[in-house]
Amino acid sequence: MRPRDIFSGLLLAALSGGCGHEHDGDAKEWTRDELAELEARWGYELSFTGIGSFAHLDYVKCLTRPTEPFDIAILGVPFDTAVSYRPGARFGPRAIRQASSRQTSFRGFNPRADINPYQSWARIVDCGDVPVTPFDNDIAREQMTQAFKELGGRRGVSSASALGANKPRIVALGGDHSLTLPALRALNEVYGRPIQVLHFDAHLDTWNPEAYPSHWGTTPFNHGSMFWMAHHEGLLPNSTSQPSVHAGLRTRLGGKDWTDHTDDTSQNWIRFAADDMDEIGTAGIIEGIMRALGTEQPVYLSVDIDVLDPAFAPGTGTPEPGGWTTRELIRVLRGIEGLNLVGADVVEVSPAYQGRGEETALAAAQVVYEVLSSMVKRRMKDMGKEGRGDGAKDEL
Ligand SMILES: *[C@@H]1O[C@H](CO)[C@@H](O)[C@H](O)[C@H]1NC(C)=O
Repeated sequence: MRPRDIFSGLLLAALSGGCGHEHDGDAKEWTRDELAELEARWGYELSFTGIGSFAHLDYVKCLTRPTEPFDIAILGVPFDTAVSYRPGARFGPRAIRQASSRQTSFRGFNPRADINPYQSWARIVDCGDVPVTPFDNDIAREQMTQAFKELGGRRGVSSASALGANKPRIVALGGDHSLTLPALRALNEVYGRPIQVLHFDAHLDTWNPEAYPSHWGTTPFNHGSMFWMAHHEGLLPNSTSQPSVHAGLRTRLGGKDWTDHTDDTSQNWIRFAADDMDEIGTAGIIEGIMRALGTEQPVYLSVDIDVLDPAFAPGTGTPEPGGWTTRELIRVLRGIEGLNLVGADVVEVSPAYQGRGEETALAAAQVVYEVLSSMVKRRMKDMGKEGRGDGAKDEL
């Protein structure tokens, strides 16, 4: 149990002491001052202490606590039985949490965003993991879908709720990329409309499973076809004024021609290749993304860590040489803070293939931090508070 949990436990015990609630006769009555002193003495965490929630956030199994209040949930989805090459991303959520250890609320101010996402209007909690079966992908998909719907359908708690920001956001830690389909199904239900996607990846993931026919049948639910499924389920808009966007592509295509790209375009995607970084730089990529997605429409962000070069993120399932640096990705993420993000995931972290310095999981944890900063900041803007750290924090 974490110190803060112990504190609230004691507080509860103290407050309910007179009500005959689970108290034995000799139990000490703790005063608020005494409890405050305990908190002052032991109630903080250092970067290397604690049992490993994301960024030392409160850890709550939200799926079994239907009344748990949060504005943004970190949710682990340790699922990896829909991959085409290296397995192991089921250990991604643990690795990302571990690599987030040096993110503490005390030392969480993000200078680029002018905000500390861990000391803001938003209650951010680590909701733990969805216990996804590794034995049956149909059941797993259903488990993930129900978990996303259940958490995404709750109400946010902060004062922002009154301003229309009452839908909580989920930031999922993968897990293989197929978890994005359940996430998009839930968003479609919660928002009652198709949602545009911003997708950082070496690969398209709009592969038509029929293009890979097998005597034994095809399985569309895999980590390369979930966007194809999402398109056909009507989860993404078809209007060309509301495209979805890939960035960082450098995959080989099937066959002898551009059919995969034609298919992708017909699913209403526009593409930025990894090489575009050299031609137009981070500023050009940022501008292109913002032009396609704008600042008003709800957008789901999906970051496959293999968008990074294997030099920076070897710990992943389908590495492709020639990718972006960690710094380039972070810079692009910072540049798109104006997006109206309604959910996000960071997927395909497969720690068995990373180095001892945890570079892949560190990159993923940093992506989450930037995404949280942008989500929190964007909402402050909606509420008419610019990100001016302290003042805004106190007022909200
Ligand atoms: C977009 O088109 C596809 C293919 O025709 C269709 O299955 C899907 O439902 C459409 N999406 C929406 C949001 O209407």
